[in-house]
Amino acid sequence: MSREQTIIPTYSNLKVLTISNHKGGVAKTTLSKLLTEYSVREGVRVLGIDIDPQCNFSARFLEMTNDGMDPPLHPNFDPKDPLWDELPYSPPGYWSIAQFFRLGYVEPYPTNIPNLHFIPSHKKELTNFLEQVERKSVQEAVVDHMRTMLSIEYYQEEFDLVIIDTPPQTSALTASAARAATHLLIPTEMQEDSIAGMADMAQLWQAENQTREAEKLMLVGILATKFDPQSAAQRRTLEQVSQNSVLGDKLIQPPMRYLQTYANSSSTYANPRSLFEMHENTPARIEAEEFCKIIFERIFR
Ligand SMILES: Nc1ncnc2c1ncn2[C@@H]1O[C@H](COP(=O)(O)OP(=O)(O)OP(=O)(O)O)[C@@H](O)[C@H]1O
Ligand SMILES: [Mg+2]
Repeated sequence: MSREQTIIPTYSNLKVLTISNHKGGVAKTTLSKLLTEYSVREGVRVLGIDIDPQCNFSARFLEMTNDGMDPPLHPNFDPKDPLWDELPYSPPGYWSIAQFFRLGYVEPYPTNIPNLHFIPSHKKELTNFLEQVERKSVQEAVVDHMRTMLSIEYYQEEFDLVIIDTPPQTSALTASAARAATHLLIPTEMQEDSIAGMADMAQLWQAENQTREAEKLMLVGILATKFDPQSAAQRRTLEQVSQNSVLGDKLIQPPMRYLQTYANSSSTYANPRSLFEMHENTPARIEAEEFCKIIFERIFR
């Protein structure tokens, strides 16, 4: 029996990369940051979107307030401008991904990086929204929402690439990020529970494509993360994945090794700000440039 096919809004040139695995701590956010930094260096106009209430991706590029849980005031906010009074937010002056879902409109934030704009998360608002989304009728509306929004002219014209970091749990928001995506990246550790997470994500990829008539969701790849080449068990698992008939050719080489440099460089107060500003001989930088290049080229080929 064939599934019901969904006619989804199409994009002109915009690429949307969703990074997802419902297993926690597999380096989704670290990769979101690295791919954002890599892509702006390649000269593409990037919009970062954070749909994780933990706000870690947002905190990398914006001065988050309230212990990193709230977005800052938007630079265009003018308390004297009556127009802002008419806009429904509370407290006024900031935008977050929760409003993108609730109202269908936000003004992305500029960042310190030219070519990078950002729609941040907001812990409390997104958590509240997620609670409401539990209801089935709301869920269905949410799943198509992000794609519908990103297909409007503003996003199509202002950006080349959207990078969406997702939370470790599956929800209608994650499904929305998969529906909005043109490309999916699945990071996974080479351990049993992460592999199970990877298999679930691969299933989501296939199910998503069965519902789509056109604009299939491309799996850019599976990236082994926090990989320890000294571990025989991990090497064996990597070997098994590479021989898998469906996913084997999706495996990205080189894997992302377990290196302290990644953890240090992805901290909010890292100096230099980016791994790509470290010395050219830094092993993590060399490796990250290689896997980011492969991912970037698969998206823009
Ligand atoms: N290759 C790596 N080597 C060593 N540490 C890493 C590596 N990648 C990420 N880390 C560290 O592992 C932790 C988890 O990484 P990260 O936050 O990117 O994972 P995540 O998948 O986004 O987690 P969550 O599911 O909670 O959102 C962080 O402390 C990060 O600095
Ligand atoms: Mg994360």
